[in-house]
Amino acid sequence: MPEKLPFEFLFTPEFSRDPYAVYASLREQGPIFPIDFPPGFDAYLIIDHEHGRAALNDPRLSKDMQRFGDYFKAIATEDDILFDSNMLSVDPPDHTRLRRIVSKAFTPRRVEELRPRVQAITDELIDGFEGGAAELIDEFAFPLPIIVICELLGIPSQDRDQFREWSSLLVNPTFVPEEVERRRAAARATTAYFRRMCEERRQEPRDDLISALVAMEELTEKELISTLSLLLIAGHETTVNLIGNGVLALLRNPDQLDLLRAKPELLPNAIEEFLRYDGPVERSTPRFASEDLEIAGTRIPRGAMVHVSIGAVGRDPEVFAEPDRLDITRTDNRHVAFGHGIHFCLGAPLARLEGQIAIGTLLERLPQLALGCAEEELSRRLTGSVVRGLSRLPIRF
Ligand code: HEM
Repeated sequence: MPEKLPFEFLFTPEFSRDPYAVYASLREQGPIFPIDFPPGFDAYLIIDHEHGRAALNDPRLSKDMQRFGDYFKAIATEDDILFDSNMLSVDPPDHTRLRRIVSKAFTPRRVEELRPRVQAITDELIDGFEGGAAELIDEFAFPLPIIVICELLGIPSQDRDQFREWSSLLVNPTFVPEEVERRRAAARATTAYFRRMCEERRQEPRDDLISALVAMEELTEKELISTLSLLLIAGHETTVNLIGNGVLALLRNPDQLDLLRAKPELLPNAIEEFLRYDGPVERSTPRFASEDLEIAGTRIPRGAMVHVSIGAVGRDPEVFAEPDRLDITRTDNRHVAFGHGIHFCLGAPLARLEGQIAIGTLLERLPQLALGCAEEELSRRLTGSVVRGLSRLPIRF
C-alpha cells in the first residue's frame, strides 16, 4: 500500500497549481491512499474512476454526520446545526425524505423558468464592465450564481455580500485555530440569519423557496435551516468556479476557444468538458465507513473517512482518452463532477443553465476576450478545500 499522504500535501502551492500532475504521478502506486486529512483522522483518498464512482454510491459509506461526525465537531460548535441535518449529511431513509421535499420546490421546470432572468443578470453584469478590462471572478462569475440563488431562496439583495463572506468560511475548512473560530462565528451567524428569515416568511409568505419550504411544514426547524444553508452554499460556491475555471481553460486552449466560437452549438458539450477537465469540486464531501470494508485491496476500518478526488477521477486514463487535453467535442464524457448515485447534485440543471448562459454570452459579447494578466499572476483560492477555483481572473476584451 502507498505511504500515507501528509495533511500538508493538499496545501502545497505545487498541488494547488496542478493537482492533476500530482495525481498522475501517484496513479502508478494505486487507486487509494491513506491520507492525514483532516489531521488526526483516519482517512483515505480514492483517485481512480472505477473505485471513485463506486464509492460515491456505496451504501456502506455513510454520510451521517451525527453518527460519524467527529470531524465536524472539530470545526463547528456543539449547537451548530448547519451541517448535520440536510440531505448531504444523512443516509436513507432521511436522505430520501429530505431530498424529495426540496426537489418538489426545485423542479427542472422551475429551473428552466429562470432562463430569462439568468440571461438578464448576465447581460447586466457584462454591461458593467468598463475600459476593455474586468476581473471576471468578482465582477461576473461570483455575482451571477449568488444573485440567482438569493433570488430563488428569497434573500434580500443587500445581504448578499455578508453571505459571500460566511459561505466562503464555511466551505473551506482549514483547521488553522483562528480560522476555526471565524468559521464557528460564521456558522452561528448563518444559523441565526436563517432562523429569523424563516420566522418572517412564516408570518408573511412570499413567492420564494424559503416560503415554499416553510409552508410545507414537513421539515423540522433544524432540517429547514440546515437545508437552506446547503442550498445557499452549494448554490454559489461551485458555479462561480465552473465559470472561472471554464473561461481559463478556453483562454489557455485557443484552438478550443476558436472552435466554440465557430460552433456555439457545442456549448452544452463544452460545459461537460469544463466540468471534467477542471471542475469546481476537487474532492467529494467526506463519507464514513459504517463497517470494516475493503476498497481496491485496501482495508478501511469502521469509522474511517473516505474522500473521492473528483478531479483525479476525471483524468483517469483508463476511462478518458488523452485525459489532460481539453476537448470540447469529447463524447461519452463520464465525469463525476456532480457526484454519483443518491447524492448526485440536485442543482445540476441550474448549474448547467448558468454555466451555458454565462460562458455563451461572454463569448458572444466579447469577441476579443483574452487573459488580462501574466499566467504567474493568476491567483488560486485556497487549496485543500472541497472546491477548486481562482480568486482572481483578470480579462481584457
Ligand atoms: C451535491 C457538485 C451546483 C445543490 C453535489 C455533489 C457534488 C456537487 C459533487 C455531491 C457531493 C458528494 O456526494 O459528496 C456541484 C457542482 C456545481 C453544483 C460542480 C456547479 C457547477 C449546485 C447548485 C445547487 C446545488 C447550483 C443548488 C442550488 C446541491 C445539493 C446537493 C449537491 C442540494 C446534495 C444532494 C444530495 O445529497 O442528495 N453537488 N454542485 N449544487 N448539490 Fe451541487
